[in-house]
Order: sequence, then structure tokens, then C-alpha cells
Amino acid sequence: MRIRVLGSAAGGGFPQWNCNCRNCDGLRKGSIKARSRTQSSIAVSADGESWILFNASPDIRQQLEAFPRMQPGRTVRDTAIAGVVLIDGHIDHTTGLLILREGAPLRIYCTDAVFEDLSTGHPILNVLHHFCGVRRTRIPVGRPSDFRVEDAPKLRLSAIPLASKPPPFSPHRNDPRPGDNIGIRVEDEETGAVLFYAPGLGSVGERVVQCMSESDCILVDGTFWSEDELLEEGIAGKRASEMGHLPQSGDHGMISVLRPFAHARRVLIHINNTNPILNEESEERSIVEAAGIEVAYDGMEITL
Ligand code: MLT
Ligand code: MN
Ligand code: ZN
Repeated sequence: MRIRVLGSAAGGGFPQWNCNCRNCDGLRKGSIKARSRTQSSIAVSADGESWILFNASPDIRQQLEAFPRMQPGRTVRDTAIAGVVLIDGHIDHTTGLLILREGAPLRIYCTDAVFEDLSTGHPILNVLHHFCGVRRTRIPVGRPSDFRVEDAPKLRLSAIPLASKPPPFSPHRNDPRPGDNIGIRVEDEETGAVLFYAPGLGSVGERVVQCMSESDCILVDGTFWSEDELLEEGIAGKRASEMGHLPQSGDHGMISVLRPFAHARRVLIHINNTNPILNEESEERSIVEAAGIEVAYDGMEITL
């Protein structure tokens, strides 16, 4: 299985257009050692030819251009994207769908909860019907949980519902449903390799722990270093837990959660621009690395 990190930042990217936090300002001025990053998305393939796109970020045009395999050029209009799997309905994971409107009907895989939000509160799927059209396949959140993406051979997927809130525009903002946000297990049937991907992970339940223990690569929520990071930077915002993100630091933080799974590659993704781990010379970055945890970057490739 091949995994390509298309975008490793959280919503807003790094640097964010209007942000002068220590990281964004430092990156622009060249006063910190850090790399710019586009918004959250990965692509996964078993054969290197047919790829599943996980989430479609507003930066997708730039991300595809940086990865020529996505444009094989077999016919006058072509793509290597077999289907798009959405793990939630957030802006940073879905608005890139509009950029893909020129092609064949988009094959979109999402839960009923996400489908409803993208047909009502933010009716992006309705809009797409006036362009390329959409062929939507339901991701089950109960059991049996397995599903496949057509034309992406040898990959077996399953969803794990995660506790979180749907996006602000959702009619269900204040009554969350299973399927608003999912983690995805991807198994390569030929090699047996398993990936667990969950860029939004607010709390870690039994199913998530079980899945992590079976995975060769755990690619998870790296949004915030601390619970109050936005407030500490002087940015009016919510706490990490209110946004459905488990911070890395603290007794029960992501570093502690990942500690028992040293058999696997453990990689943080969906990193917010305020997170001190983006500064490669920060103390926080050295703590993460000393724990054997990697920090995803755009263009990172992982082969399992
Ligand atoms: C999140 O990951 O919490 C959301 O993408 C935040 C946002 O919508 O900007
Ligand atoms: Mn996000
Ligand atoms: Zn910033």
C-alpha cells in the first residue's frame, strides 16, 4: 500500500492567509525552521495507478499538480482518482470537490450524516449535479462495516464512527449523529498491511484502540499541541476538545495514546498553523520525535 500525504495542515493551511501567530509570522519572515503546508488530504493506492482520495481540500489543484501520478494522461481528460472518501463534512475536507467539477461524475463515498449536511447546510453536492454530477455510495457506520471503492483494487475499507460535532452549518450541529466524523481502516488484501487514518480524533474509544493495535501505520489528528492553544496565541477561538481534536500534550494526550503502539509508524497529520511542533527546532517537536512519532509534511510518502 502506498500513502501520499497531499496536504498535512488543518483548515487554513500554513501559513494561514490572515494569521500572524508565531508560526505563520516566523515562516513568512524566515525566522523559524518550518515548511509551508496545504490543507488536509491523503491519497492511497495498492497498485500505484488507481488512487483513493481521502478528503478534497480547497488546495487540491496544487496538491495534484505536485503529484504527477494523479494525472496519467491516457485520454484527453483523465485522472487516477478512483473515488473520493470523505471522513467528515468540514470545509477543509470537502470544498475541493468543486475544483474537480470538470470531469466524469464524481464517485463520492460518505456516511448518511455527511451526505445530509452536504445536501442541506452546505449543499455542495447539489451544486455539483449542475456540473460533473455525483455518484454517491454510502459508507456504513454500523456492522458489517466493510466497503470498497470501485476501481481501487485490493483495498478493503471500514469506518469507525468517532465522537465529535458536525460542522457549524449542519442542521444537526447540536445533535451529533454517528457518522458525522469517522476514522478509516484501510487494508491491503495482498500484503495484509493496515492503515488507520483519523485526522479528526477528539477521544479515543475501545474500537479506536483496537484498530491502532492492528495497524502498521497510524495517521492521526495532529491539530493542536495543547487544549488552549488558540487562546494562548491570543486568537479568539475554541478549546481543542470543543473542536473535536485531542491535543498532543498532557497526561491523556495523543503522545500518551500512541505510546503503546511502537510497532507501527505513528504520524501526526491535520496540523494547525498555531501548533509549535511545526517549528522544527522547537522543544515540542523534539518531544514528539523522541516519542518515535513523525510529523507529516506535504509530499510525504509512506509504503506499507
Ligand atoms: C476542524 O478540523 O475542526 C475544522 O476543519 C475546522 C474548520 O472548519 O476550519
Ligand atoms: Mn479540519
Ligand atoms: Zn497562524
